[in-house]
Amino acid sequence: MVRRVLTGITTSGTPHLGNYAGAMRPAIAASRQAGVESFYFLADYHALIHAADPAQVQRSTLEIAAAWLAAGLDPDKVCLYRQSDIPEVLELAWLLACVTGKGLLNRAHAYKAAVDRNTAAGADADAGVSVGLFMYPVLMAADILLFKANSVPVGRDQVQHIEMARDMAERFNRRYGGHLVLPEAAIDASVATLPGLDGRKMSKSYGNGIALFAPADELRKRIFSIVTDSRAPGEPKPIEGSALLRLYEAFATAEESARMRAAFAAGIAWGEAKQMLFERIEATVAPMRSRYESLTADAPRIERLLHDGAVKARAIATPFLGELRWAVGLRRLF
Ligand code: TRP
Repeated sequence: MVRRVLTGITTSGTPHLGNYAGAMRPAIAASRQAGVESFYFLADYHALIHAADPAQVQRSTLEIAAAWLAAGLDPDKVCLYRQSDIPEVLELAWLLACVTGKGLLNRAHAYKAAVDRNTAAGADADAGVSVGLFMYPVLMAADILLFKANSVPVGRDQVQHIEMARDMAERFNRRYGGHLVLPEAAIDASVATLPGLDGRKMSKSYGNGIALFAPADELRKRIFSIVTDSRAPGEPKPIEGSALLRLYEAFATAEESARMRAAFAAGIAWGEAKQMLFERIEATVAPMRSRYESLTADAPRIERLLHDGAVKARAIATPFLGELRWAVGLRRLF
């Protein structure tokens, strides 16, 4: 049986090295396996929840699509589309909203965190919380359930949302019959999250990231700004907890990693280790960067690819939503 794998990428910001090693690279490898049907989409409806700048949503859509293609995603093999090209997503979100208890959404981490912040600040519990933020898990469930995805690769922070999607599917099925497939979260334990420049998890919100397709001189500058300690050249460098080493290992073969560890033990100078890290990453990124640059320079080409993806996706979504509309009683009269 074919397994359906689906994941969404919110179109806010530019992909960084952590996105590449943690999500894009494993997803692209998985999409090449036999017996898997992959769906990747640009979650631009989700981007509206946080991003205030329309031009940035548009730019980010172009950049993220180009990044996935440059990294090797084959649009003939997978279904790559833009969420907002599939109006069925929003319609299913409404059908799900009507079987979802408000209490379930009250427990969503992102919403609860906002409420906790407000409460701590003595403000109204819901201050600054949009209905969009509150509904986030419903929209995400619609993304998943519309395509009967079996498996949803996500980071740990998203697991609760997949569980909520299961909940919603179960409730819908109980009320209307078994139309929806229950998805499972797929977290690859072997994919470590990459540390950022300051050693914390590389994250857009910490501002400690390294853009995946920064020009080579900027990449080098960012890598040289990785925080290291004051150990002098010749002094052994600690292997445990070294952000520099973990970044290196995310891009290196087993032999290269072993050599770098030996160099750490032998007291390699930080500057030299950083230069090696830069060269290692640059070797991986350079060919992708030139593809990325020509793709981002050709917006009409990306637009055509996304359009073709939407046609493929809607060939599934439109009839399935028709089935669901019938199931809930949105029927023609005779
Ligand atoms: N919420 C996800 C994130 O921020 C993005 C996303 C939107 C998604 N819809 C999805 C992921 C459906 C998987 C499945 O990472």
